[in-house]
Amino acid sequence: MRLGLLTAGGDCPGLNAVIRGVVAGATQRHGAEVVGIVDGWDGLMGGRVRRLDRDAVRGILQRGGTILGTSRRDPYVHGEGAASLRETLAREWIDALVVVGGDGTLRTALRLSEEGIRLVGVPKTIDNDIAGTDVTFGFDTAVQIATEAIDRITTTAESHDRVMVVEVMGRTRGWIATYAGIAAGADAILVPESPYDLEEVAQLLRFRAARGRSYSVVVVAEGIEPPPGAQIAAPLDAFGFERLGGVSAIVAARLEEMTGFEARVTVLGHIQRGGTPSAADRVLGSRLGVAAADLAAAGGFGRMVALRGTEIVDVSLEEACADLRGVPPEILGVAHTLSAP
Ligand code: F6P
Repeated sequence: MRLGLLTAGGDCPGLNAVIRGVVAGATQRHGAEVVGIVDGWDGLMGGRVRRLDRDAVRGILQRGGTILGTSRRDPYVHGEGAASLRETLAREWIDALVVVGGDGTLRTALRLSEEGIRLVGVPKTIDNDIAGTDVTFGFDTAVQIATEAIDRITTTAESHDRVMVVEVMGRTRGWIATYAGIAAGADAILVPESPYDLEEVAQLLRFRAARGRSYSVVVVAEGIEPPPGAQIAAPLDAFGFERLGGVSAIVAARLEEMTGFEARVTVLGHIQRGGTPSAADRVLGSRLGVAAADLAAAGGFGRMVALRGTEIVDVSLEEACADLRGVPPEILGVAHTLSAP
């Protein structure tokens, strides 16, 4: 068996652990070969591949990013779907693909699988919003980075009696905001899942100040609706995706206006995605990689490896692509309770 392996979409800490896991699983357990595809679907459309043996994946576990490179190019947007991949698949004698990606990549994988391409999926995103799995690798690292940043911002907030608004990633779901906000003891957390009222937040800040806490930290997911009356013209990137970022500046300006407290903004951005993965993400990525090789060897095409509880299982790509997974009300409730003054 010859497996093609690609990583697509935004990068994510733990991708190299998955790559290493797929190669180890395929070669050690199934006597298979692995062909690495460079820059995601783009490399598959353009025939850019490299051989991945055990030596090629030594020493990569600790490294951030993906040794294969990634891109947001898509065979249905920038090519003719499955037809644009078949030449490379045939030329490289690839029997099946292991596709590591987020919701967009997995939706593309599902369509390709319906067109007869043999593939298995591995869920990937720091946003932790893919359905069918309890958690995605990369999330733990991103939360750790965001928590450390918020801790640091909190001490300077306290020294200067300021309101600090910290913007974290999360396009449509607020997992990083909620977890990092809880972990760092944020005073308010705004996420796309729940409507928010800035007057309530302003009230909370005034209440804290009246009790001697004249500083506050507000964590905002990048994908929240802008406050009423405000508009953000999110520019599109080269592939037509909205580039988010900047809502925190409006939130901070409004809070400053409403309370009279000096406010500052920090946008954490790609620092949440770069750098070495946490131990938990290395382990999860490794387990998913080995499991993906097993799933492909067993012919479980059109399916995705996933974590359920403490077990690695597989689920259909339809289930994984049905919806994005939001933060459950129970956890949002805990965040709300903890941030009460
Ligand atoms: O999908 C993961 C994600 O990190 C989002 O939270 C964020 O909006 C987006 O990627 C940013 O991606 P890019 O690399 O295109 O700036």
